[in-house]
Amino acid sequence: MGAMLVTGGAGFIGSNFVHMARRRTDRDIVVLDALTYAGNPANLDGCDVELVHGSVTDAALVGELVARCDTVVHFAAESHNDNSLADPSPFVQTNVVGTFTLLEAVRAHGARLHHISTDEVFGDLPLEGEEKFTESTPYNPSSPYSATKAGSDHLVRAWVRSFGINATISNCSNNYGPYQHIEKFIPRQITNILDGRPAKLYGSGAQIRDWIHVDDHNDAVLAILEKGKRGETYNIGAGNDKVTNKQVIELICELMGGRYEHVADRPGHDQRYAMDPAKLTAELGWKPRYTAGLREGLEQTIAWYRDNESWWRGAKEGVEKRYAESGQ
Ligand SMILES: NC(=O)c1ccc[n+]([C@@H]2O[C@H](COP(=O)([O-])OP(=O)(O)OC[C@H]3O[C@@H](n4cnc5c(N)ncnc54)[C@H](O)[C@@H]3O)[C@@H](O)[C@H]2O)c1
Repeated sequence: MGAMLVTGGAGFIGSNFVHMARRRTDRDIVVLDALTYAGNPANLDGCDVELVHGSVTDAALVGELVARCDTVVHFAAESHNDNSLADPSPFVQTNVVGTFTLLEAVRAHGARLHHISTDEVFGDLPLEGEEKFTESTPYNPSSPYSATKAGSDHLVRAWVRSFGINATISNCSNNYGPYQHIEKFIPRQITNILDGRPAKLYGSGAQIRDWIHVDDHNDAVLAILEKGKRGETYNIGAGNDKVTNKQVIELICELMGGRYEHVADRPGHDQRYAMDPAKLTAELGWKPRYTAGLREGLEQTIAWYRDNESWWRGAKEGVEKRYAESGQ
């Protein structure tokens, strides 16, 4: 079997994927990462991989790497909603133009592609109700981030249909776990409490995110790579679609002995996400290891941030300063 190219493999989900793939396969792994503020080579410490510093928008570099890999797993993206409101431009470049660049290389070299996407392409659901997103839910993105991810999904489908490339897509709910940048909701709260600050709850905290542990997401990605059908999309979610942000923060405070305060809500904050992973479960036999309820996954994640303070400490002041400027 040839090498596997992992784009964005120095970021949160990508680096966890590389660690898991290292444990489960003996394939050579090449990571392509632009090492933006969100990418950290230290996330790959202890992993025997080739790390190439470059952008998925660089057609010559991408062509050269895809030519020597038979599989591509595409995590690279600008991924933070708040940043996309401040400046959408890198989101269009990386998420749309970068995916296009990769698709052209995959088409030229006949590689197998798995494209990583988000439940945010579907927009949101009313807080009250039982409805969940399925693979046939129409796209209705709210933010520049989710609109560019939606655009990238459409490009992948069009390249399957028009050019016959061998690609699959997965849309996953909000992830948490080790190596997540502390600007994100769960690690921000954990590191606030470790730092002796209160956790910060946006608005009333009624929003629902259907949280999933990053290892469960990546376990699904490996299952799709192994058994997924060409051209198919798979929704990934762990059944936490009843847990509000307020309950998540209360659980973190309970597990860590901390407290929280209310801060300003985000503009256009989506209300509820809920993924229906029935297709993935029925067709590929996938089930989350961290079952609904979050307690076990949060305990593992809190322990990781406690044990790895040197990993996050340098970014903490800057992140809190930026949030304070927007009243959060
Ligand atoms: N975090 C979530 O909850 C979540 C949920 C569902 C889907 N996703 C998707 O999963 C993927 C990974 O998300 P994440 O949370 O790990 O993000 P992240 O921001 O932690 O990591 C993104 C990585 O991509 C790299 N990158 C950015 N621009 C690049 C470019 N032009 N070329 C090459 N590399 C570039 C960054 O340096 C970083 O290492 C994204 O596609 C995201 O849309 C994330």
